[in-house]
Amino acid sequence: MLFALVLPFPARTQPDLPPPLIPLPARVVWQPGTFHVDARTVILAETDTGAAMATARYVAALIGQVSSFQPDVAVHDGLRQPDNSILFSIQSRGERMHPEGYMLRVDPRRVLIRASAGAGVFHAAQTLRQLFPARFESPALQHPTRRDTVRGWDLPACMIQDAPRFAWRGLLLDCCRHFMDVEFVMRTIDLIAQLKMNRLHWHLTDDQGWRIEIQRYPALTRVGAWRTEKDGTRHGGFYTQEQIRAIVAHAAARQVTIVPEIEMPGHALAALASHPELGCTGGPYSVANDWGVFKDIFCAGKEETFTFIEHVLSEVMELFPSEYIHIGGDEAPTFHWERCVQCQARMTAEGLEDEHALQSWFIARVGRFLAEHGRRLIGWDEILEGGLPEGATVQSWRGMDGATAAVRAGQHAIVSPTSHAYFDYPVSSIDLERVYSFEPIPAGLTTIDASRILGGECNMWTEHAPQHLVDGKIFPRILAMAEVLWTPVRQREYSAFHRRVDAFYPRLDSLGIRYGFEAPAVSFDIARDSTDRRFTVRLISGQSGLRFRYIDPAAPSTPRAYDGPVHLRGRGVLRAVAEATDTARAGGTLRSDTLALSYDWHDGVDATVTLGQRFHTSYAAGGAGAVVDGLRGTDYFRDGRWQGYEDTDVEITLDLGAERMITELAAGFLQYQPAWIFMPRQVSFSVSRDGQRYTDVATIANEASDRDGHACTRDFRATTARVSARYVRLRAETIGVCPDWHPGAGGKAWIFIDEFIVR
Ligand code: ACM
Ligand code: ZN
Repeated sequence: MLFALVLPFPARTQPDLPPPLIPLPARVVWQPGTFHVDARTVILAETDTGAAMATARYVAALIGQVSSFQPDVAVHDGLRQPDNSILFSIQSRGERMHPEGYMLRVDPRRVLIRASAGAGVFHAAQTLRQLFPARFESPALQHPTRRDTVRGWDLPACMIQDAPRFAWRGLLLDCCRHFMDVEFVMRTIDLIAQLKMNRLHWHLTDDQGWRIEIQRYPALTRVGAWRTEKDGTRHGGFYTQEQIRAIVAHAAARQVTIVPEIEMPGHALAALASHPELGCTGGPYSVANDWGVFKDIFCAGKEETFTFIEHVLSEVMELFPSEYIHIGGDEAPTFHWERCVQCQARMTAEGLEDEHALQSWFIARVGRFLAEHGRRLIGWDEILEGGLPEGATVQSWRGMDGATAAVRAGQHAIVSPTSHAYFDYPVSSIDLERVYSFEPIPAGLTTIDASRILGGECNMWTEHAPQHLVDGKIFPRILAMAEVLWTPVRQREYSAFHRRVDAFYPRLDSLGIRYGFEAPAVSFDIARDSTDRRFTVRLISGQSGLRFRYIDPAAPSTPRAYDGPVHLRGRGVLRAVAEATDTARAGGTLRSDTLALSYDWHDGVDATVTLGQRFHTSYAAGGAGAVVDGLRGTDYFRDGRWQGYEDTDVEITLDLGAERMITELAAGFLQYQPAWIFMPRQVSFSVSRDGQRYTDVATIANEASDRDGHACTRDFRATTARVSARYVRLRAETIGVCPDWHPGAGGKAWIFIDEFIVR
């Protein structure tokens, strides 16, 4: 298609709206007029070596690849800046500019960029890039035959002064749960650099895969980089040291530091599968093909463990210049340490009180090794549990308390709490606005303590995101995180940000990013009409620019375009999808998964509920009435329909208002053992006429296996000979604690119920 050649482009010298800058600079003043970039424009750097020249060449190349011309790059002679030039200048003396800060002035005659260091000019170049229209980023324009279409670009005049709020602005990319290829990692670095983010926290080792070549231990990648999936297929891959050097250099050229994470003592199954001698039991072990937390971790008693770790870290330090080396430290069950002769001997020899202290000793020992080599240790907040190792920096993920404790102890912290920064969570849990509302400084800190919060990260764990789904989880939410970490807090305002995001999508489209939704693309707004015994369902969205289709249970063969409320009676499943009205967006991928609403207007709907125990406030599902709202839960335990009870049996009594004939009693339960949610051991039903004396109807034992790691739901159902009753009661008996084989063995089990059904 050659539209661009034959259709006249409307002349547009002054944009109607300023271009959307993300993250918003600290200070922007838009001015009248534009600077025209064309074949006569020269890109200047103050000296012919160093960062200013590198950035000048980088910007010239960006322009050249989408234009009919290639701007010249030259050294500035130090005199007055000539007209029609873009000058990059680094002045490290005499100025007190933040090393990542910059000044960018665009006037109709010239563009001037000043900074005190290479990072500053690079970030300025990213702002400059965002002053070009979205199609500047278009790969279609990069095709040789298309470049002729653009003979010039207009940049709006402005004056920008900018510097980041936080020094550490990162993305965690988990390449263990799913392997990502080198090009994808490099592209991700390009993209975060455009948002002025400067850390790629590269998660390289975990239970499901060891992804970094270590020359001394070839088995790590021969064995540990591969797993056999449940369906028998193989998944895996690793980065050679040569590839890693190339990625590190690619990142450095974009002012991004790669912080490698080598997990210990937990999340070590791939390492143990390769070197079983390093575990407490000696194995055998295999690379995990399931998600979760595993009990098999490095033995803290054996000296070989530390020899291994030191050799590995030595090669890691050779490859990664980062001052910080992340050693994980999270989710390390002490189950084997409690039973291991060598771990126990270590505790005695070192005078350690318990296994938490052993974990702390482990981390501190590794921290000393790193410090001897001029590096600093960073670990997840579990490293606080047995006492914070000297000099360690804490990454707070289970809320913000870890960060608070670390900085109050005089150490440093970065923040990436599950509440705002976990981009593996669906947008139904963490939407764009929620990310934007994130405040990285925990409440109640003194100014001095707050200054030890280095910054934050968004965490892209990939259990449920192979490479092709990663864009959709990261974008657009990372736009919010980039701004949270860069922009002064007083400039942050969601509605203005959201307008910029709307205007930014064409840029994401041009960049070929397959972004996802900002908020649940479609959800059900449900009203109950008790007289008519029907549900009225509206399809709603947290995002504009979408349309819905649905499958009406009454006419299931044809999806219909949604144009108003749907009425539902009886039982069934309503299914709906949302898609962008502009179907070209996000490369045609902006389409939601199918959302299902399972409903059942049974005779207990809207009965009066008396609960024998309290549900957990985190899983209230809207309160007591949730168990008689006629709406069924999905297999996702956070879907808002499941009511959760921790460490207790569940007793629920319904008052049906009047005596009636009953032929069936049932209740729905969810099991998802990775989250410690189990089926009840058994469920018994009883009925009463007066609410005093109850007659047992039936007791139904659980038949579902508790070992399956997948979520499953089950109705415990009792059909009765016709009995007459006004009150019905269920009792669900908890299994008590997680079974011995379970990673959470001994921990309090949960019961999740969605509905108490009466017919
Ligand atoms: C983590 O999410 N386990 C750090
Ligand atoms: Zn041991």
